[in-house]
Amino acid sequence: MSARPVSFPEIRTGLGWDVHRLAAGRPLILGGITVPGEFGFEGHSDADVLAHAITDAILGAAALGDIGMHFPDSDPRWKGCDSLLFLKHAQKLAEERGFRIVNVDSTVILERPKLKDFREAIRAKLAGALGLEIECVSVKFKTAEKVGPVGEGRSAEAQAVVTIAGEKAAR
Ligand code: C5P
Ligand code: MG
Repeated sequence: MSARPVSFPEIRTGLGWDVHRLAAGRPLILGGITVPGEFGFEGHSDADVLAHAITDAILGAAALGDIGMHFPDSDPRWKGCDSLLFLKHAQKLAEERGFRIVNVDSTVILERPKLKDFREAIRAKLAGALGLEIECVSVKFKTAEKVGPVGEGRSAEAQAVVTIAGEKAAR
């Protein structure tokens, strides 16, 4: 009889989503990168809709609640704060439970400006913040085809999926 394994790999997936209103005179920050333009995102923190979606995907994969639970927008400490701090904290919590991030995939839905020229900078910034290879961080962009609040330029959304891996002890 062969010996029973003492542990086996545990792969988990988390889903994140966020929306922010657009407002004149606010910075447009995506994945920690400031995109120049007239409009930016409203919010308590720096309103980085992409960082928020990825943060929720990490927390979701590890079943650790959501971003508002860890960083309530009623807390003055998070006013105007760099959302990469939320991202890194979510990663730390997942790592404390024995998980590492395998990859991040994401989509930002924003009518304009065009974001594709910022893709590599955003990927590099997120990968740097998470200590991942850039190949493990995907960022995609879509318009909403002029339909609905995003399409009318009133808001922006972001979606993210994160895979984490750990080991589970065999019972
Ligand atoms: O939404 P749609 O399919 O028309 O987007 C076409 C391409 O335009 C996408 O593949 C994306 O790379 C780019 N895009 C962009 N910035 C946006 C929206 C889309 O660069 N705000
Ligand atoms: Mg948000």
